[in-house]
Amino acid sequence: MNAPNHARSRLGRRGVGAVLTLALIAGYLTVAADSRADSKATTDLIRGPIGPTGCVQCHEQELAAWQATHHFQSKKVLFSKPGKAVLKKMGLRGLPHKQALCQTCHVTLFSDGGATKPKTKWGVSCESCHSPSKEWIEVHGKLTPHKTVEEEPAAHRAHRLAAAAEKGMILPSDIFRLASNCFGCHTVPQEKLVNTGGHSAGSAEFELLGWSQGEVRHRFMRNNGNKEAPPARRRILYVVGQMADLGGSLSALALATEDGAFSKAMIVRITKAKAALGKIAAALGEGAPASAVKELAALVAADSLKHGNAEVLGKAAAAVRAKGEAFAAAYQDKDVLGAVDGLLPTERRGKPFTK
Ligand code: HEC
Ligand code: HEC
Ligand code: HEC
Ligand code: HEC
Repeated sequence: MNAPNHARSRLGRRGVGAVLTLALIAGYLTVAADSRADSKATTDLIRGPIGPTGCVQCHEQELAAWQATHHFQSKKVLFSKPGKAVLKKMGLRGLPHKQALCQTCHVTLFSDGGATKPKTKWGVSCESCHSPSKEWIEVHGKLTPHKTVEEEPAAHRAHRLAAAAEKGMILPSDIFRLASNCFGCHTVPQEKLVNTGGHSAGSAEFELLGWSQGEVRHRFMRNNGNKEAPPARRRILYVVGQMADLGGSLSALALATEDGAFSKAMIVRITKAKAALGKIAAALGEGAPASAVKELAALVAADSLKHGNAEVLGKAAAAVRAKGEAFAAAYQDKDVLGAVDGLLPTERRGKPFTK
């Protein structure tokens, strides 16, 4: 398939089969460009998404909330004046939403499984963040033999969610992966698109807590009424968000071949995330969570932050990911991060949806 070619050739088949499989082409991203599917798997992933209309029968409110976001518009922005300017500088002709490069982050590709080409009816949608659902859609919400979520015993719920994760679903509880997926788009790990195309080098201000609890927020389960994530969840979203930013930005910098807008922006991101983690560790003081944060931040050597350093940066990114995932798994159900409250951003990106 016509994936962004420079990314493919640089990455080759390294990392195929890693726990996190990158499928840029399906608009579904994990940790920026560390590993990617081979073309067979990529084709499967294009068939994987079924589109948000496949979620609406059970998630009506989530759909309504999504329709009020920039993500819902992300296909349309390709047709804007700045969008056309990017295309021109990249030397791309034809309709913008048909460009494999733009599809990577601005649309949901889906197929009816037939011989026709994948369609692009939607912008960034449910499956861009929760992963293509064809394999997991049935199992993830299967309450039987119980009739309602209230009746469902905890063990059944855990089993159902584990089965969905097994089939590739990115669960809200898998915070590092959930976050890395955001950074896979929001760091814009595409050097040429940034340096030649003039595309923004990602969202400089992106921070997981503030950006997931504003317009993106859709917390309706158990009649929650889209209330903000509770305190313990806010803390872990903030901390793991910084870890995933560090990992994603390192992976992106590993792709940099020249000194330019792209490499500069990634170095700024890495430096900021590392500093944020330093503050988090200091606030946590002594103890296991603080040591884990310190160890993770120490994986990044200042003199490694430069273009043309793929191997060293790729290794650092992988190490950050391993420690970040371990941290998320160890602490997400333990309310031990209260000491970071003073560091949590109070700003929310966009207005949360209310009905
Ligand atoms: C046939 C009904 C049905 C469909 C269709 C459906 N879901 Fe669900 N979904 C459920 C049920 C039931 C739950 C569990 C709700 C609960 O625990 O309160 C759920 C839970 C979820 C969760 C939260 C899982 C967790 O960690 O608790 C996510 C995320 C999700 N669905 C995403 C999707 C997406 C994306 C689609 C479309 C691609 C979709 N669902 C389609 C029924 C469905
Ligand atoms: C790797 C992911 C990625 C790719 C590939 C990508 N974009 Fe983007 N694009 C983004 C993100 C993320 C934003 C939001 C950036 C921000 O917060 O400033 C964005 C924003 C934009 C905007 C600005 C929207 C606005 O109203 O501010 C335009 C225009 C745009 N992209 C066009 C394109 C075009 C055209 C292509 C293909 C040639 C493309 N993008 C490919 C991720 C991507
Ligand atoms: C931009 C990425 C993104 C998109 C698009 C997205 N989600 Fe989510 N979803 C998330 C994140 C992040 C969380 C966890 C957020 C939190 O803890 O506040 C989540 C949580 C959920 C949950 C659990 C909510 C709860 O009450 O705990 C459900 C259900 C869900 N998503 C379904 C959907 C459906 C259906 C769509 C499409 C209509 C969708 N999501 C679109 C990122 C996304
Ligand atoms: C498949 C790529 C992709 C993924 C994954 C993704 N985004 Fe985005 N996001 C975009 C693009 C492209 C835009 C710009 C859309 C536009 O301007 O219309 C955007 C815009 C946004 C905005 C609005 C920014 C503004 O200017 O106000 C927020 C907030 C946001 N994303 C949060 C998130 C969060 C949180 C996650 C992960 C849970 C996430 N995104 C995952 C591609 C993505």
